[in-house]
Amino acid sequence: MTISTAIIPAAGWGTRMLPASFSVPKELLPVFDRPSIDWVVAEALAAGITRIVLVTGRGKSGLMDHFDRHPHLEALLRRSGKDQPADLIVERARSATFIELRQGDARGLGHAVLCGEPATRGDRVAVLLPDDLYLGEPPALGDLIALSEQAPNKGVIGLLEVEPQDSRKYGMVGGTWQGDHMVIDRLVEKPEPHDAPSNYAITGRYILPTQVFDLLQQQGSGALGEIQLTDALQGLALDKGMLGLVPKARRFDAGDPEGLLIAGLRCALDHGSAELRARAQSELGR
Ligand code: UTP
Repeated sequence: MTISTAIIPAAGWGTRMLPASFSVPKELLPVFDRPSIDWVVAEALAAGITRIVLVTGRGKSGLMDHFDRHPHLEALLRRSGKDQPADLIVERARSATFIELRQGDARGLGHAVLCGEPATRGDRVAVLLPDDLYLGEPPALGDLIALSEQAPNKGVIGLLEVEPQDSRKYGMVGGTWQGDHMVIDRLVEKPEPHDAPSNYAITGRYILPTQVFDLLQQQGSGALGEIQLTDALQGLALDKGMLGLVPKARRFDAGDPEGLLIAGLRCALDHGSAELRARAQSELGR
């Protein structure tokens, strides 16, 4: 069975992005010419996903609005001869089935993923964390899906090589490399560098057998009263097996202002006009 559903948990508070995220959801902050969530959804669509489940919360309905039709604006644009932006609105809304589910109470990433279950189809689900932006070709999620097709019963997660001292910030994995992927046998949440099983961290891309929902249900609340995704990943690794790979696309941490800015610069250089590149170079050279 193909992987058709992507859950995008986006109900977090975004405290690292304050004050920019005080009244605007951080996922709607721009990366070059569009909200960061748009790049994440584009990656999922490029990987063949047709069903996007946005897990949101209070004050975040703008995310769903971004992927919705806007008849008044479309009509206004067309009356002014601006057919291209009007066409883009229609194309975006038709590019997938968009479903919004609310988390209500932000009880952790595992809980947010569980909130997406009712809208999930198939025996495996993709999960994309919008804080992690992967830009460029091939789409990062596509790399994971290709590996998942070779081992459909196992989970597949995106990995990132980090400096040893950064292990405290991430879920870290250990295991054995087989060619381009790791067969994971250990996941440790934010270990001290000397306890990290390798230099590879978990990033925000996952293909998970839907058994993960049972594990999350059974698990109950862990540290800080939250339902942790890493605990369920441990269960999956033990039961079904877990593979990891480093996606080929470039990864940016769009969850803090500096990372978001760097991602925006990268996009501007890749997608902006020659004039924009020249202006940026002269401005930055001052
Ligand atoms: P983070 O904890 O890194 O993000 O969760 P955050 O809470 O949004 O941001 P900071 O750390 O306070 O700046 C990773 C992802 O999981 C989602 C977040 O929206 C983010 O995409 N998440 C987290 C939820 O959807 N619900 C939660 O309860 C927790």
